[in-house]
Amino acid sequence: MLKIAPSILSADFAKLGEEIVAVEKGGADYIHVDAMDGHFVPNLTLGPNIVSAIRPITKLPLDCHLMLSNPEEYIGAFAEAGADIITIHAEATPHIHRAIQLIKSHQVKAGVVLNPATPVEAISYVLEDVDMVLVMSVNPGFGGQSFIESSLKKIAVLKELKETHGYTYEIEVDGGIVPETAKKCYEAGADVLVAGSYIYNHADRKAQIDQLKAVISK
Ligand code: DX5
Ligand code: ZN
Repeated sequence: MLKIAPSILSADFAKLGEEIVAVEKGGADYIHVDAMDGHFVPNLTLGPNIVSAIRPITKLPLDCHLMLSNPEEYIGAFAEAGADIITIHAEATPHIHRAIQLIKSHQVKAGVVLNPATPVEAISYVLEDVDMVLVMSVNPGFGGQSFIESSLKKIAVLKELKETHGYTYEIEVDGGIVPETAKKCYEAGADVLVAGSYIYNHADRKAQIDQLKAVISK
């Protein structure tokens, strides 16, 4: 089973509701919401107000990727807005463990994100606590970038640790996903693939999701 999480960053914001309904009908598993603060990453995007606006229009879990400095300050707002999964960057706070506990205190699934240069060792001691590990396969900030191949080794390390220790996290990969990279990520051990431009830059959202899901059988 390979889950697909369309990133609404590449959607047409003038029709955001329709864009979400289209991917839900097209077989998406999560809706990926990219929150950027213009500080941790050089771009400004979506906040809790968007999460609360889209919450009533889909049954899919809202997978909120916080590219924010001091994420602890915003976890409560995202949880109250209706997030189902909140992921925070390991590089964004010296208190990763505390931030994960804070997410869980809101009965929301907690995940931790690694930038391309951040090793798995940075989060060794929270692997038993998290529901998701998100491997960035581009430098965060923008959609439409090319996949960084070294991410595949990181996915494989996380898969190995998961099997060895019986951890329960899902391995999610974000950035530069097209069928060719999707297949490599799946074979390395990914459970969930985020895709923005591949899904939303084409008219038929369902056909694009089908293409990504089909890599399992190829
Ligand atoms: C990048 C975001 C991604 C982005 C992926 O910082 O975290 O979720 O939307 O876009 P694509 O699939 O176009 O690389
Ligand atoms: Zn993302």
